[in-house]
Amino acid sequence: MTIQRLRSVEARPPEAPAAVTGYPVVLKGIGKTFLTQSGQLVKAIDNIDLEIEAGGFVVIVGPSGCGKSTLLNCIAGLEKTETGTVTVNGHQVGGRVTDDVGYMFQQDTLFPWYTVEKNIALGLRYAGKLNHAESRGRVDHLLEMADLSSVRKSYPSELSGGMRRRVALCAALAIQPRVLLMDEPFGALDTFTKASIQQYLLKFWDSLRPTVIFVTHDLEEAVTLADRVVVLSRRPAYIKEIIEVGIDRPRDVYAVKDTPEFLTDYRRTWRALGGEFDH
Ligand SMILES: Nc1ncnc2c1ncn2[C@@H]1O[C@H](COP(=O)(O)OP(=O)(O)OP(=O)(O)O)[C@@H](O)[C@H]1O
Ligand SMILES: [Mg+2]
Repeated sequence: MTIQRLRSVEARPPEAPAAVTGYPVVLKGIGKTFLTQSGQLVKAIDNIDLEIEAGGFVVIVGPSGCGKSTLLNCIAGLEKTETGTVTVNGHQVGGRVTDDVGYMFQQDTLFPWYTVEKNIALGLRYAGKLNHAESRGRVDHLLEMADLSSVRKSYPSELSGGMRRRVALCAALAIQPRVLLMDEPFGALDTFTKASIQQYLLKFWDSLRPTVIFVTHDLEEAVTLADRVVVLSRRPAYIKEIIEVGIDRPRDVYAVKDTPEFLTDYRRTWRALGGEFDH
């Protein structure tokens, strides 16, 4: 097995580190009910209030099907909320997608007919904020850091699952989003690749400080990455508990596991979530 370690971001920091910071995200009374094709009403989320400071890193955990992806879709403006408001940087989202938000979806969303480099550059081209040379420079930089330069001309079908996830991460980071939404982005990766890609994400976050809202089923991952872990209930999801993670930053994803704070916060998260599975 080849363990692919992503190259250190420190060697060449992303451009303009001081200029870009995340936007605050405020959720007030968010509720969402779906009408299914068979005519049933499914209440996915119920009265969620959450304030995320600019540049914060919030991880959301909760039982499968409780409404986590729905919540991210409401923040992204892909779903309209039924009740309540989503505000990004003081502006109400209201079912409108903005290019300040990067989204790494739960499903594989690479375009199979585009090469790796074109998949990464697509968002940049769409946003239209960089000229060709700047755009190329940013893509080169991301490819290098994610150890993908050798496959830049390959198509997604020619890559491993872990490589595809790294391409998707680069595509989400390319626009240097103010708010980065990540829906179980590393779920299917092996332990070593996952740790390596988490390390890269934390370094990117340290240098540009976007606001990150990250969904995972992996409680170890949640505590390793988060400022706060938001534990959701079973559907319809409401906030059951918020755990403030006491681990210092900057963090090394390999070293944090040895700290007493990691164990304490992991146990607290486990207990809060475990309660949702009691009968
Ligand atoms: N477009 C839709 N139409 C009808 N029901 C939907 C729709 N989208 C989601 N749902 C329902 O809303 C509930 C929450 O779905 P959601 O995908 O948000 O869960 P989740 O917490 O992300 O689950 P998982 O952890 O399995 O990814 C589920 O019962 C799902 O079936
Ligand atoms: Mg989901």
